Amino acid sequence: MNKLRIYIHIPFCQSKCQYCDFISYDNKDYLIDSYIDALVREIELSYTLLKNKQITSIFLGGGTPTYLPSKYIKKVLSKLSFSNESEVSIEINPETVNKEKLIEYKEMGINRLSFGVQSLDDKILRLMGRIHNKKTAIDSILLAKDIGFNNISADLIFGYPLQTLKIYESTLEEIMKLPLKHLSCYSLSVEKNTILHSMISKKMLPIPNEKLDREMYKLTESKLAKNGFNQYEISNYAINGYESQHNLGYWKQDDYLGIGLGAHSYYNQQRFHNSNDLFKYIRTIKINQLPHEELENISLEEQEKEFIMLRLRLNEGFSLDTYKEKFSCIFTEKYEQIIKKLKDDNLINISSNKVSLTDKGKDFSNQVFLSFF
Ligand SMILES: C[S@@+](CC[C@H](N)C(=O)[O-])C[C@H]1O[C@@H](n2cnc3c(N)ncnc32)[C@H](O)[C@@H]1O
Ligand code: SF4
Repeated sequence: MNKLRIYIHIPFCQSKCQYCDFISYDNKDYLIDSYIDALVREIELSYTLLKNKQITSIFLGGGTPTYLPSKYIKKVLSKLSFSNESEVSIEINPETVNKEKLIEYKEMGINRLSFGVQSLDDKILRLMGRIHNKKTAIDSILLAKDIGFNNISADLIFGYPLQTLKIYESTLEEIMKLPLKHLSCYSLSVEKNTILHSMISKKMLPIPNEKLDREMYKLTESKLAKNGFNQYEISNYAINGYESQHNLGYWKQDDYLGIGLGAHSYYNQQRFHNSNDLFKYIRTIKINQLPHEELENISLEEQEKEFIMLRLRLNEGFSLDTYKEKFSCIFTEKYEQIIKKLKDDNLINISSNKVSLTDKGKDFSNQVFLSFF
């Protein structure tokens, strides 16, 4: 049976964070019922795409899936057949969970929790517009552990305006004391159409400092390594065996089907995404049509470029043999000149059949990826 990963998008949040440009709303709760009905119907309409597939992971992301009463999550998950072996993750805003919800998640087969912590400094949390404080973040992770969740992850953001190295360091130190198996540490991206962007434009907040951002990145790597968290991707760290299977699937070009508003799919060498317009998404499904847009076949050449870009994000990189098997050509011959330049600049490593980014290459990953295009 072919394997498939499923992403489910829940576009509702209690309140919009200052830096966030994800598709999520804090003023459309009246649409929650219709949206969940649409999700359920979308799964039914996707019957042929789901038929004879083994679902290896499900990721409930958002927005804030845990903002919704758990009956809605249960309704959606009950439409999918997956086994105990599947990794089933949910993104959590710490303020939106309690004991009952967490117990219910466990009963529905959710076995991995990803907490949006962002920072363990109350001033920075307020600046970010987070609805929780440090204590709530810590307490909710401890509660989840008490209830019996073992596979717990947390997200952090570094490089935020006014976040000093010292403040970030103490967040890292405190988060290491929690029962986590995985951490995603993201460098802040200042996105247009966010409050953060307009505050920086109006000089109400300083522009993030690139040098400090890189220092924070290095600090993340060293602190986490000391605590047994191995970096396996540019922004992701895990205790051995607890790497996110779902996200590894994206980087390894596994097939995945995105369900819900704006969700992207990569399926059978085709790429498409759902409508980004909430009303259109619900309307399209109401007339029994899938809201897929911009369907494109992915040529072998595109697959090859994506392979290089995605695999180089991983610490393990890729093997020259795998590359040759997939694309019937020799990486070091095809890109001889580019490789020479990248090696001279100490951006990539090629040794014993493996290609990977150097430490410097991780700092300039976008520049490395672009050189292959
Ligand atoms: C959908 S959110 C996680 C769940 C929940 N919505 C929350 O925020 O608690 C996904 C993650 O993306 C990261 N993120 C969102 N916007 C970002 C940005 N502009 N720059 C860097 N990381 C960002 C945050 O770490 C966030 O936890
Ligand atoms: S970061 Fe998470 S909680 Fe904040 S607005 Fe974005 S999706 Fe919602």
